[in-house]
Amino acid sequence: MNPTVAPSTRMPTLIFPTSTDAARHVATLMAKMIRENNASGVPTVLGLATGSTPVGLYRELIRMHKEENLDFSRVVTFNLDEYFPMPKDDSHSYNRWMQETLFSHINIKPENVHIPDGTVKPGAVADHCERYEEAIRKAGGIDIQILGIGRTGHIGFNEPGSPKTARTRLVTLDPVTKRDAASGFFGEENVPQQAITMGTATILEARKVILMAFGEHKAPTVQKAVENPPSESIAASFLQEHSDSTFILDAAAASDLTLYRRPWEIGPVVWKPELIRQAVIWLSLKVHKGLLKLSDNDFREHHLYELLREHGPAENLGYRVFQDRFQTIINHPAGNDPKRTILVFSPHPDDDVISMGGTIIRLVEQGHKVHIAYMTNGNIAVFDHDALRFTDFVESFHRIFQLDQQNTSEVKKRVTEFLKNKKPGQPDTDDVLKIKALIRETEARAAALACGIPPEQLEFMDLRFYRTGTIAKNPIHPQDITDIVNLFERLKPYQIYVAGELSDPHGTHRLCAEAIYEAVRRVRAKKQDFDVWLYRGAWEEWEPHQIEMAVPLSSDVLDRKKEAIFRHQSQKDRAMFPGSADKREFWQRAEWRNTQTAQLYDQFGLPEYYAMEAFVRWKDA
Ligand code: F6R
Repeated sequence: MNPTVAPSTRMPTLIFPTSTDAARHVATLMAKMIRENNASGVPTVLGLATGSTPVGLYRELIRMHKEENLDFSRVVTFNLDEYFPMPKDDSHSYNRWMQETLFSHINIKPENVHIPDGTVKPGAVADHCERYEEAIRKAGGIDIQILGIGRTGHIGFNEPGSPKTARTRLVTLDPVTKRDAASGFFGEENVPQQAITMGTATILEARKVILMAFGEHKAPTVQKAVENPPSESIAASFLQEHSDSTFILDAAAASDLTLYRRPWEIGPVVWKPELIRQAVIWLSLKVHKGLLKLSDNDFREHHLYELLREHGPAENLGYRVFQDRFQTIINHPAGNDPKRTILVFSPHPDDDVISMGGTIIRLVEQGHKVHIAYMTNGNIAVFDHDALRFTDFVESFHRIFQLDQQNTSEVKKRVTEFLKNKKPGQPDTDDVLKIKALIRETEARAAALACGIPPEQLEFMDLRFYRTGTIAKNPIHPQDITDIVNLFERLKPYQIYVAGELSDPHGTHRLCAEAIYEAVRRVRAKKQDFDVWLYRGAWEEWEPHQIEMAVPLSSDVLDRKKEAIFRHQSQKDRAMFPGSADKREFWQRAEWRNTQTAQLYDQFGLPEYYAMEAFVRWKDA
């Protein structure tokens, strides 16, 4: 898979369509070096990172070891960092994570593995750090350093303000980093304050540096790191000064680069209809003028004279895009004939109503049969106190109605005992996971009913990849795809809706979308076809030039949508995984986003609505 080379950046930046392609590329490069060094009998020294980013890379290296005899017996590794304090066997320790994610699956020698030690006494940390640097030097320095990037721009845990001369040391984590780590620790209050990290200078001494970044939530930081001059406010920007360092991105992480945001500023472009739309919409927002009010001068003053020359004057361009956007306003998303079967996929039990509750309500009102498929049970996002409360409820219920009391009391005792002694982040027992899943399932039924959808039109798929009871997910299981294919064959939908998410915190939406796309390809091969519309999850909205269908919502429909979101009580007031730094509740974000989209259309000079939900069509690559 040939990557796109970004032309606008201050350092080599390669863009791959997906994170899987990118991980494969990096693994191939590492394997080549390991094989060459093995053949010459010399060790390969790798600098390794933890986190969500390198998981695909490690999976690929393990595959190469198992299927292609990639030999790690001469490989020496140094990890970037470890929380402090942190016992080595703690479920949050990077030591344990590395063992579970990579080392226990390959033939690396334990004595060749180096990871900062989170168990040293506070007084001995400085000495430990110095010895860590010495060990790197003794090993001959790092051949390839793998990095991820935090939303603060950190590499390792070199947070904003870290100088480029910094070496391995104890650091305090930035509040943004702690917030991002919070879900893994089941609450920000459980995230350690400090960590031991290699310094920026240590990292810059590696002979080759590869920074990987995947997902849209990384896009703004990546843009600053590769397009702005180096600065202490983004440690990753210092990689610009390294002679062999490369950013490896997936399309989502690259989406804020000038190459995609304003390609016309970089060099000559071919003015295809989509690019014309993007440029004119960008200009309209930039100069705060409606599409029909744009002038030739607006185009000239904003690097758009080529567009003006080829497709102008301004009135033509403005009118053309106005017409195009006008046609995206669609009041009957499934057409005018009633009784069509619509299938909405919801990765977690509340994404349906948060992201497209208004459209669901309108589809039901327009006489269509809407089915909702909840793909995972969402049980890891339920607080322990809610599990306890429902256990108490069931016990009291059984007492009042003289139902089986003995079994209920036993379950309550087991659950109470476990939760009383549970440590932060400790995985739940099977009992507790089942109760939490049930809470979300009943909430989903209540929310669907608020939209006018009866329980018999709901599918609780409980896909296998999600059944880990922890944040980490398994790869998609072949049966997951078969389950979706079976659903298509059974329901024969007229159109389907999918969370086309690029940025949810744990990647669940992305996995769900990939499983659905694969299932769609399979049924299409058997000549079953339907429209596939994508909505965005709770975190972001489509860019205005991307929107292909904007469904208007009245204030009454938006109120009903909020009512449906409220039915997800376990996610109300405070959600376990709010995602991003946004402190607002999901219903507040949804309300803001939907009214915001309507205001944007108004700003373009299009009809003014109260609120709108936005969709794009899925196009198979
Ligand atoms: C991990 C590390 C960090 C992460 C960064 C991105 O060892 O040093 O710099 O690489 O926080 O984390 P993810 O990949 O989880 O987004």
